[in-house]
Amino acid sequence: MPSAPTSIGLVFGGVSGEHAVSIRSAATVAGALGCGSNAERYRLLCFYIDQQGHWWPPAVADAVLATGHPLEPEEVPARPVRPGFQGLPAPAAEVDVWFPVLHGPNGEDGTIQGLFTLMQVPFVGSGVLGSAVGMDKQAMKAAFAAAGLPQVPYRCVDAVELGEPQRFESLVERLEAQLGYPCFIKPANLGSSVGISKATNRSALVGGLRAAARHDRRLVVEKGIVARELECAVLGRQSMRASVLGEIRFDADWYDYTTKYTEGLSHTVIPAPVPAAVSERARTLAIEACRAVAAEGLARVDFFYEESPSDANGAGATAEAGAGTLWLNEINTLPGFTSQSMYPMLWAASGLPLEELVHHLVQDAGEWNIPNGAEAQAA
Ligand SMILES: Nc1ncnc2c1ncn2[C@@H]1O[C@H](COP(=O)(O)OP(=O)(O)O)[C@@H](O)[C@H]1O
Ligand SMILES: [Mg+2]
Repeated sequence: MPSAPTSIGLVFGGVSGEHAVSIRSAATVAGALGCGSNAERYRLLCFYIDQQGHWWPPAVADAVLATGHPLEPEEVPARPVRPGFQGLPAPAAEVDVWFPVLHGPNGEDGTIQGLFTLMQVPFVGSGVLGSAVGMDKQAMKAAFAAAGLPQVPYRCVDAVELGEPQRFESLVERLEAQLGYPCFIKPANLGSSVGISKATNRSALVGGLRAAARHDRRLVVEKGIVARELECAVLGRQSMRASVLGEIRFDADWYDYTTKYTEGLSHTVIPAPVPAAVSERARTLAIEACRAVAAEGLARVDFFYEESPSDANGAGATAEAGAGTLWLNEINTLPGFTSQSMYPMLWAASGLPLEELVHHLVQDAGEWNIPNGAEAQAA
């Protein structure tokens, strides 16, 4: 007798700047879970989180997926008075495995992973720790540094330091002396290049720090380098594997918000045309980066690749004779998953088509051990 299909709770939308991308990612994942052999394996229950943080049941979620547009306030019969999570819609009790397809704060940062953990239901992707550390650029960089992984020189800044004129001035002098120009100023907890700026002089540095501080108290300033941008997809939990590399190419000074999200301003090259040694090194580093921040299940690891040996002198730089230098830029624990996104495209180029990829992701969620305090105490 065929076994009953596994009920997958696909959650998308969410309270972050990447709400619209999440809808597109979810449509791709839902399509793949309903396709071929997956159609018999899985029963899909979709849940939509609107931009106020309210959860909506499959009837609403399916309509959002069908139109591809966020739910407008007038389309909802009875909107809760308070924003934020107000409880799960009833069909959530039937979910066997949760599949969060949420990007950025409130989805990629450990918050929803905490909810699933409390519910004691397996879920796709990293747990609370890996998600939270991967999201926060200060914490991520500290974890990479502790693991001896190569990063460009950087400094962490607390927005409090911007408040007093004297302290601010000495901060700026310190950053100039330690990192120089150009440098990049980033809020620690966003994504999609929001709040990030490049500074080539003091007034831009001051403006960039103030702009980033409007998004987050925790800031990072990095030495700016001239480098190609490579990405690697990782899959698996106990045993992790890395995909072929992809390269992002664009006609802009750096990969800012407009370049990322305007059709035709950037394109991907898969596999990335780099020497085999560089590709192998990046794939090894990608898995080490996941281990360093406790990311698992799925992740996209992004690199800077300087073709000529670097003079940036960052910790652990991996200059190899004639092979240039690889630096880790960041890890994304719930990377974009649209049909045009790097993560699924890298796996397709590595021999794992979309349908099989989502099947693997769900299977890997089952490997997850539910922390059981009672058992641990009894042992
Ligand atoms: N140190 C750096 N040197 C050169 N370019 C950088 C540096 N840091 C960031 N960038 C540029 O800014 C983009 C966005 O930075 P990133 O740290 O990846 O932020 P996000 O998490 O928003 O994607 C990068 O893809 C790259 O083009
Ligand atoms: Mg990035």
